[in-house]
Amino acid sequence: MPGNDTTHVAMTTGGTYSLATRGAKDVIDGAWPLVRAAIGRIPDRPGRPFTLSDMGTADGGTSLDMIGDAIAAIRERFRERDVQVVYTDQPRNDYNAIFRMVHGLTGQVSYLDRFENVQVLASATSFYDPILPSGTLDLGFSATAMHWMSRKPCDIPDHVQAVGASGASLAEFQLQATKDWESILLRRAAELAPGGRLVLVNFGIDDEGRYLGNTGGINMFDTFDAIWRGFVENGTISEAEYAAMTLPQYYKTVQEFRAPLDDRHSQVSQAGLSVEHCETRVVPCPFAAEFDNHGDAARFASDYVPTLRSWSAATFRAALDTGRPDDERDRIVDDFYGAYETMVRESPEGHAMDYVHVYLTIAKTEP
Ligand SMILES: C[S@@+](CC[C@H](N)C(=O)[O-])C[C@H]1O[C@@H](n2cnc3c(N)ncnc32)[C@H](O)[C@@H]1O
Repeated sequence: MPGNDTTHVAMTTGGTYSLATRGAKDVIDGAWPLVRAAIGRIPDRPGRPFTLSDMGTADGGTSLDMIGDAIAAIRERFRERDVQVVYTDQPRNDYNAIFRMVHGLTGQVSYLDRFENVQVLASATSFYDPILPSGTLDLGFSATAMHWMSRKPCDIPDHVQAVGASGASLAEFQLQATKDWESILLRRAAELAPGGRLVLVNFGIDDEGRYLGNTGGINMFDTFDAIWRGFVENGTISEAEYAAMTLPQYYKTVQEFRAPLDDRHSQVSQAGLSVEHCETRVVPCPFAAEFDNHGDAARFASDYVPTLRSWSAATFRAALDTGRPDDERDRIVDDFYGAYETMVRESPEGHAMDYVHVYLTIAKTEP
């Protein structure tokens, strides 16, 4: 049977995530003006800790600097209050990697060296579930995580990602993504203190139809699909394994992000949430930018493809028939990324994973 566990979206563990995905840090650093502005508007709650969550944090490495800046701004505004940083991710995430990162055991300088009265906590709870006690969250942050759905609504018969879906499968993905977004927002609406803010930076589709790995060059998800389809054609995998490789992800348009927040009759609006700021941005792929400088195609291929692998390999592997021995499944996955790497090495022009994000600040109404 092809694997049907839809929750296999854990990142590569052991603190390697931040090194493998430098672009993600650029995305978070770019959100700093939104975070700073949000901190400037959040009301005081004297005597309570200022609670800041980083949802879908992975190893906490990419947000470390931004969170340090946020703590400095919080301290400046609310001198007497403790700051509580709550890192959250899925249960299978590597939480030791977070604590190694934050407590300075990885060589990266941590904000804990700079501040007193900062408490670092973690919750292995999905952002689809309640994470914090009601009314206690001052600022909820999340980057590049909420495109992962709560479940895979169906297999996409002719592509590996919803960007290539059409007809009934696209409709099922759209429906599930709508429910998922509402449930994330309603969970956070309950957790937010009055006047609290969310700064959510999510993969999305901009008004020009651009999305991750589709910004004018070679389409990354179409490349994934073509190689995986090629594995059916050369007998490496079965049709069922091809179909089971459906990433449980969905990239919303700006309109889809805004819909429940702009409709004043929706449950989300009724729960007090509204959009304070919304913009889209394209952050260039650091590996393609580096290739422009060094011009070495082999180096580009061997730097670039592992970053695609870091977030997609678990899903490819889980699509393979569990009747295959483990080492055979590993080899097929290795061959898949090997084929991608060969393709990039032989013809590097146009390959890039530019990030396309929707940056949102959401406010919870003060009473
Ligand atoms: C691409 S990484 C982003 C990490 C970091 N926020 C950044 O921007 O560099 C996506 C993270 O989202 C997490 N994730 C996926 N689904 C999640 C869920 N339902 N609840 C919490 N975290 C989730 C993954 O485990 C992974 O660590």
